[in-house]
Amino acid sequence: MTAQLNARGDVAVLVPAAGAGVRMGPGGPKALRLLADEPLLVHAIRRVAAATSVRMIVVAAPAAEVEAVRAMLAPIADVTVVAGGAERQESVSLALSAVPGEIGIVLVHDAARALTPPQLIESVAAAVRGGLPAVIPVLPVVDTIKEVGPGEIVHGTVDRSVLRSVQTPQGFRHAVLAAAHAAATDPLTDDAGLVEKAGVPVTCVPGSEFALKITRPLDLILAEALIRLP
Ligand code: CTP
Ligand code: MG
Repeated sequence: MTAQLNARGDVAVLVPAAGAGVRMGPGGPKALRLLADEPLLVHAIRRVAAATSVRMIVVAAPAAEVEAVRAMLAPIADVTVVAGGAERQESVSLALSAVPGEIGIVLVHDAARALTPPQLIESVAAAVRGGLPAVIPVLPVVDTIKEVGPGEIVHGTVDRSVLRSVQTPQGFRHAVLAAAHAAATDPLTDDAGLVEKAGVPVTCVPGSEFALKITRPLDLILAEALIRLP
């Protein structure tokens, strides 16, 4: 069934999905690989479309797959599909260009976080709506983290209590994200990183175990188990 987006909503969600999926191993662009018989991107978009304040969804697809992705997503929701770029940041910038200025809140959400609950999307959007310029969902770091030097010699143990593992969707006031991307010089920084560099405060909100980034083959096995949970 086609989900109806909220025509009065104040949120656009950009979904970079143009990556190759190198760490997943051979098998084509990661966003198009199957999880429980459907592409990761389909799982992701279904959940984004179910978030109640979302008015617009823009997917950055692999350049060779734009038409295929349009056809794949048409039954799910009215999604705008653009060709992505060589780096994630470029894919996000290209998707951002499709968002009209009147939409006040822009979220950036990896297709690879295909099982992210609609509630997390709404909680990030709500925090931006409440006045924060930039919001990221995070989890505590579970492993002990060591700083190492040449020869794998340990220099020290990092205080875990001040560390957070960062997920998506990352949420921004539209103008804040647009300015950060316009000024971007380091293509490897995430969206919140660009905003930090511009001197804008970035605030953490609680993330979700379901928003894991499906990166390696083991993550797909974990996601297959999560999707079967009642
Ligand atoms: N992405 C993108 N354009 C790129 C690179 C990445 O839109 N040029 C997207 C991916 O499709 C993914 C998200 O950014 O949804 C997060 O990237 P990542 O998990 O690293 O995915 P891939 O780049 O596909 O994986 P890998 O790094 O293993 O190749
Ligand atoms: Mg990548």
